[in-house]
Amino acid sequence: MQHIDPHRKYLLRRHLLRWAKEGPAYVPFIGDGDICVGGSKPGALPHERYPMPGLYNDRFIYGADLDPQRVVIARSRIPHGRIRVANCDVYPFADLQTGPIAVADFDAWNEPWPAFRSWFEHAEKAEQVVIFFTDAHRLGIMADGTHIRPDGSKVTIQSLTERRAVYYFYLSKHVWPWFEDYIRPYRVVDKSRYVRGMITYWGAAIRLENGATMARGKLSNFKGKKAAPFKSKGKKRSPGTAKPKSSPKK
Ligand SMILES: C[S@@+](CC[C@H](N)C(=O)[O-])C[C@H]1O[C@@H](n2cnc3c(N)ncnc32)[C@H](O)[C@@H]1O
Repeated sequence: MQHIDPHRKYLLRRHLLRWAKEGPAYVPFIGDGDICVGGSKPGALPHERYPMPGLYNDRFIYGADLDPQRVVIARSRIPHGRIRVANCDVYPFADLQTGPIAVADFDAWNEPWPAFRSWFEHAEKAEQVVIFFTDAHRLGIMADGTHIRPDGSKVTIQSLTERRAVYYFYLSKHVWPWFEDYIRPYRVVDKSRYVRGMITYWGAAIRLENGATMARGKLSNFKGKKAAPFKSKGKKRSPGTAKPKSSPKK
């Protein structure tokens, strides 16, 4: 099992996936694919069973993990995907024409930022995208003052008072302002978070400003291999493809 409080990961995603349009999901750090297709695997021990329905059952999934064994498991559980053994710090699907990615889920153990930056720079993205992060950088800040910023730069904070300030305002002062600036001309239309111990879990729905075109990432004339189109077999709609209950703008 690679999750603690999996239901909270699920609820965070359910909430923000109201904004997600149709389109493939990019899932680096895919592990066994629990977030994609659900938590309990056949043969799981009692303590490994938990109710986490899959969130990306109805989407084509571009997934990857460093661990080949995880990839074998994920492939067996996710027929509707293309899953590779890869270091996701470098976007591993740059050779494919994926179509606009509508969801990107960076459920890293600790460090989602290199993977996020590489994906954002090189992937084809939808006009509206929902993105999730699992981030353990607060641990380093509190342990010895090591602060690795989302842009990859690193500082050591000497003063305990300053460490506390960065620790307690990590998202609001040290991640979100950077994120909002970095994703331009996208802008954040919704976001949500929770904290568990020193780990921060959060997500955002982002949308291109009216009339803006993508500043970075692949354009539609990209000449790469075309990925196989995904056709959902079931009738069931995942939350990711369901119509939003509130009224996010198109
Ligand atoms: C929290 S688990 C992911 C669980 C998964 N999201 C799920 O739904 O079951 C983190 C995973 O990231 C993988 N990992 C860590 N660093 C990585 C990297 N740089 N590139 C690709 N995978 C990585 C680990 O092997 C591990 O399987």
